[in-house]
Amino acid sequence: MIIKFQKNIIEAVELKYHGNHQKHQSLEFQVFFNDHANNDFNTLFKNLHHNHNRKFFAAGVPGTFHCRLFPKSSLHFGHSSFALQWLSKTPSEVLDTKSPAWNKGSIHCTGYHTEVAEAYSSQFKNDMETFLNARAQELVNGGLLVIIMSALQDGVLLSQSSIGMTYDLLGPCLQNMAKSVRLQIPSL
Ligand SMILES: C[S@@+](CC[C@H](N)C(=O)[O-])C[C@H]1O[C@@H](n2cnc3c(N)ncnc32)[C@H](O)[C@@H]1O
Repeated sequence: MIIKFQKNIIEAVELKYHGNHQKHQSLEFQVFFNDHANNDFNTLFKNLHHNHNRKFFAAGVPGTFHCRLFPKSSLHFGHSSFALQWLSKTPSEVLDTKSPAWNKGSIHCTGYHTEVAEAYSSQFKNDMETFLNARAQELVNGGLLVIIMSALQDGVLLSQSSIGMTYDLLGPCLQNMAKSVRLQIPSL
């Protein structure tokens, strides 16, 4: 999916550039793909290698996007797709059984408890701030940043959405798996 986005972006920039400026001068593009260092970049690189219609030079950039990843004023276009909804960490209150924001073991923000929702919301605000501060330094003056991410309509709780229902089912399964791994460790 991400490679299709790059194609659309490149075509739009080329169209605008050739419409406004030099009709015959060709443009060259460098695209940086970012993900956590433990992401399987090799699969991405293999897909890029097999894509013979690719019109850009490609490079992988490992590391969290909540920090600086690029030199100052070096990017013309930033694009984040379906990634910013992942928080940089679980808010500590939701794991604390003594806190009013304790999430009772749920793996996501169901939306039913105000204190839990506030803890997640505050973490999200911090994460967005660090993300935007880092990109603000990396983008050139007049550069563009496009963010695509999931959202809920006002009044709809995450547990009422299809992805929230999936997390409600997935959470106990992951917890059971984690418990059985813990139980097996002493007998190893
Ligand atoms: C749902 S996938 C979307 C992948 C791709 N952007 C696309 O649209 O096809 C979310 C990706 O964001 C990455 N991700 C989550 N948090 C991140 C972070 N803090 N820094 C870098 N990558 C992150 C995940 O590892 C995952 O590969």
